Amino acid sequence: MLKTHTCGELRAEHVGQEVTLAGWVNRRRDHGGLIFIDLRDREGITQVVANPEVSAEAHATASQARGEYVLRVRGLVRRRPDGLTNPDMPTGEIEVVANSVEILNPAETPPFYINRDDEVDEALRLRYRYLDLRKRRMQRNLILRHKVIKFIRDYLDEKGFVEIETPVLIKSTPEGARDYVVPSRVHPGKFYALPQSPQQIKQLLMVAGFERYFQIARCFRDEDLRADRQPEFTQLDIEMSFVDREDVLQLVEGLFIALVEALSAETGKSILHKPFPRLSYQEAMERYGSDKPDLRFGLPLIALSDLVAESEFRVFRQAVAEGGQVKAIRVPGCADYSRRQLDELGEFVRKRGAKGLVWLLVEPGLSVRSPVAKFLSQAEIEGLLARTEAEAGDLILIIADEPKVVAEALGGLRLEMGQRLGLRDDSLLAFAWVLDFPLLEWNEEEGRWNAMHHPFTSALDEDLPLLETEPGKVRARAYDIVCNGWEIGGGSIRIHRRDMQERMFRVLGLSNEDVQAQFGHLLEAFEYGAPPHGGIAPGIDRLVMLLAGESNIREVMAFPKSQQAVDLTFGAPSPISEQQLAELHLRLVDDEP
Ligand code: AMO
Ligand code: AMP
Repeated sequence: MLKTHTCGELRAEHVGQEVTLAGWVNRRRDHGGLIFIDLRDREGITQVVANPEVSAEAHATASQARGEYVLRVRGLVRRRPDGLTNPDMPTGEIEVVANSVEILNPAETPPFYINRDDEVDEALRLRYRYLDLRKRRMQRNLILRHKVIKFIRDYLDEKGFVEIETPVLIKSTPEGARDYVVPSRVHPGKFYALPQSPQQIKQLLMVAGFERYFQIARCFRDEDLRADRQPEFTQLDIEMSFVDREDVLQLVEGLFIALVEALSAETGKSILHKPFPRLSYQEAMERYGSDKPDLRFGLPLIALSDLVAESEFRVFRQAVAEGGQVKAIRVPGCADYSRRQLDELGEFVRKRGAKGLVWLLVEPGLSVRSPVAKFLSQAEIEGLLARTEAEAGDLILIIADEPKVVAEALGGLRLEMGQRLGLRDDSLLAFAWVLDFPLLEWNEEEGRWNAMHHPFTSALDEDLPLLETEPGKVRARAYDIVCNGWEIGGGSIRIHRRDMQERMFRVLGLSNEDVQAQFGHLLEAFEYGAPPHGGIAPGIDRLVMLLAGESNIREVMAFPKSQQAVDLTFGAPSPISEQQLAELHLRLVDDEP
């Protein structure tokens, strides 16, 4: 080894030892006679002192070193002089007095500081990702990611799960996004698709009798990117045979609790509710306007429709008459909001599709100040105050609209007010299960039903009779695990019989030919004794993001794509040669605008 110790491990107990360190120059200070170098590696930073009276040569070399040079230093560990110890540095009690300094490699001046936490343009960070990854925060994030994955592997191994790798060159799988495809050279005009998830493959592994499978699986989806989405991401993919929903929930809940607790010292995070609360999709939508509610705080959405259905206030009456809703949130202590602040909130909900926002300031004696108070009867106001359990000092915010808009706008406002009131404590993880999702959702554009999770998801037995008559009312044996307002994972108990799977495809409007071409392999497998099975797939990137306290998924991936799906380090995607195109039987055509 080129080094005897890391830059993070020397302590007072090492004083008097001769050591060799190697790493990067984090900082260099020339104090006339003495040169101080903070030498950095993955494990930390150690102060090196080059004193010409100890070694003229070491001092001369140290004077040439610049930021990010790679050095090897041999020297003696000594206690720092009184008053010069640094309690903020784990190695702050000691320094290494250099006997020799060797420049292993010089470095250009980096395009941004490695040793500072400045905001740096993300495109520049991604362009020079190998430098960005030198930063303490990124090293910490990727090491945390490693620990999370290692913990998961050990935990599941202990529980009898087998990790099985599945192919990346497969056939198109419907998970709701566009596929990335790979042209075949050997088979002109034919394509592989990269898996959006290993969904069908893991089901085949259940047919194959593995019973408990997992994989740290790479998935590929060509979809619009957001803060929590990447075109290529990693799932903890799990599938189990001879289980019901409860088994899957218990397994994942046990894993997440153990994982968070094992890493709590370094993440500073703890779980708010144990066991994880469970709510139905319908409850989640009604109370929080979201199927991934942030349960770190209350401020639930409160239904007022029945109270104001006959109101003189046209906005309320009309919304209810048209099949819409009137809902409120009660925000404690915000009755002192200024006109300007209230207008801002109005603007906030308009951006989310609402037509307006009614506000009521609740004053001492429960008198109410609001521009619409004059349109509301005394009984309506009293009913509203009682329903919301209002107290003096509260701000009540009301939206009337179709359910989708109310959910989006008032649910969004709930999060905003939670944020303003400091109720979204980042040291807390509020995991919860959302259950009983609808099986299907109506696709307006194509005029047909889509599977809300995926087409392999089974329905609740009691809802099955409605499958052909009222498909929208059928609930799925599907579940999501959510945390702090993010969807972390989703899964379901699957269909495992051919006839049922065919029935499902019919409801989805697929022709027999399409079914045969796309899913023939799966239907066939179901005829050879497929066990009942189910599973789930938490997103590893999102989980690590939460644990690392990051709000962007790219901060926990080594080489993520930009928001435009570009790898800025390599410059991918990029053109390929005429010859490669020809071999793949492809020809570029100019897209007519
Ligand atoms: P689903 O499509 O819900 O389910 O995905 C499961 C989880 O994967 C993560 N995820 C993503 N993470 C980053 N970038 C993306 N583009 C992205 N898309 C999804 C999320 C999500 O909750 N085969 C099923 C699972 C099953 O039924 O077992 C599936 O893929 O955290
Ligand atoms: P208008 O009748 O449009 O002048 O609106 C009167 C008040 O009701 C204004 O404060 C609007 O912001 C508010 N408002 C209008 N439409 C809605 C709605 N759908 N939900 C809640 N408030 C609304």
